[in-house]
Amino acid sequence: MGNNITNEIKKRRTFAIISHPDAGKTTLTEKFLLYGGAINLAGSVKGKATSRHAVSDWMEIEKERGISVTSSVLQFNYGGFCINILDTPGHQDFSEDTYRTLMAADSAVMVIDASKGVEAQTRKLFKVCVMRHIPIFTFINKMDRDANDTFELLDDIEKELGIATCPVNWPIGSGKNFKGVYERTSHKVTTFTDTEKGTKEGETREYDLDDPQLEAFIGTENKEQLLEEVELLDGASAEFDQDLVSKGELSPVFFGSALTNFGVEIFLKHFLKMTSSPLPRNADIGEVNPMSEDFSAFVFKIQANMNKAHRDRIAFMRICSGKFDAGMEVYHVQGEKKLRLSQPQQMMAQERHIVDEAYAGDIIGVFDPGIFSIGDTICMPGKKFAYEGIPTFAPEHFARVRQVDTMKRKQFVKGINQIAQEGAIQIFQEFNTGMEEIIVGVVGVLQFEVLKYRLENEYNVEIRMETLPYEHIRWIENKDYDMTKLIGTSDMKKIKDLKGNPLLIWVNSWSIRMTQERNEGLVLSEFGRS
Ligand code: G4P
Repeated sequence: MGNNITNEIKKRRTFAIISHPDAGKTTLTEKFLLYGGAINLAGSVKGKATSRHAVSDWMEIEKERGISVTSSVLQFNYGGFCINILDTPGHQDFSEDTYRTLMAADSAVMVIDASKGVEAQTRKLFKVCVMRHIPIFTFINKMDRDANDTFELLDDIEKELGIATCPVNWPIGSGKNFKGVYERTSHKVTTFTDTEKGTKEGETREYDLDDPQLEAFIGTENKEQLLEEVELLDGASAEFDQDLVSKGELSPVFFGSALTNFGVEIFLKHFLKMTSSPLPRNADIGEVNPMSEDFSAFVFKIQANMNKAHRDRIAFMRICSGKFDAGMEVYHVQGEKKLRLSQPQQMMAQERHIVDEAYAGDIIGVFDPGIFSIGDTICMPGKKFAYEGIPTFAPEHFARVRQVDTMKRKQFVKGINQIAQEGAIQIFQEFNTGMEEIIVGVVGVLQFEVLKYRLENEYNVEIRMETLPYEHIRWIENKDYDMTKLIGTSDMKKIKDLKGNPLLIWVNSWSIRMTQERNEGLVLSEFGRS
């Protein structure tokens, strides 16, 4: 295969940033883009205060409606690498898409607010990273504010998330007193001065640990504290082990402040060295080598309703091997059809544009006339294989849904099925009855509103929703488990998916374990197989 293709693929780094809302994910992304020269001034990725004009029309539509179900991908170049950042939407628009985005990433960056430690949303997203065994890097942000004790922060991560940590650098002071970071392998200290507004970074300087000028800059007290902490750290923390990092069992930790741009570039440089180019992926023919000559990709997200009149959709796919050329003929495995992907597009910085070529590691969005489903494989004609499917993630909110006008049964069933196919909602039924009663499960409550809105506007069906108190769901792994013999708890309900697979939902989390104890041999899973 062409050297050029291999070189392009080797340059790729594709990762997701996960965090709890407000930990600083957007700010950090902005700073990354700044280093990549993709934007000139920070503050324009999300642009809370400013406008968001660069995005295309369908996002405008979403904006008008006040709902955003989009997670975007940003590509930029830095230091000889071609970097794809997958944004995992947070806040109220947390949905299954947020989880699925992680299926397309080769590694994850976890941003933690130094004054808060591990928070709920991070915990959820982290679980998906663990399931995939991808490397997880920790950036402890907001060190320019009063932070928790550094050792306690690490302890919190280890205990809460069950992953070993290895600080690559160590902060000197925090809050107004945050002076810089000490790098443990080189024994060098990088100090920072405040960033002038609008500039890329404050003045940074590098010192050897025993340089008297360092002490003059950071002060004797900070210096002594640093020496003490480093000694303690060297005795107590796990050693850096690239192998464990690659397996997702050890998280390298960095400290900094995205807002004032302290420690961001240091992080980026280390991160790029410690992560790999696109990883092989499992398929039914075994692992597929990303450097293989043949193009292949899988669909991880479907963005519906670009154009209401046509029910357009965009299917986002992660390229897993080879090179994609616009207009090339490919094979859609699940649809058993040859096709040409039309209007392939990519987000470069903030601009959506049509791409002519893309490589393993890249994400492209293609026009979908309604043929793709989440998890589908696209490959070269004559080279048929399928990538491992994307799991179904546990919904946390449930509602019973019925149509108001019983005459509209057909539209209702069609609409709800199509929306489920896009992966915005999951549909279930009562265990013992048919389709009359539908139970909808969602990961984020906003999806209920999206469902109602879309059924009314696209399918002309008005629905009534009754929210249910259940919050926990488990799939039953044992095939042929006798559901009539299952002894549950009083807050438990048996349901089934559309294929008839049984599931259990509970109001209280402790009932899950109780159910498990009452039914020996019952194997429950937090992820479903689609
Ligand atoms: P998110 O995407 O994870 O939700 O967080 P985002 O970057 O939007 O940051 C949330 C808030 O935290 C923002 O303030 C942002 O300026 C601030 N922030 C991010 N990184 C740092 C940091 O390193 N230090 C400090 N002190 N603050 C930080 P905001 O007031 O909510 O928004 P804005 O009006 O400043 O945009």
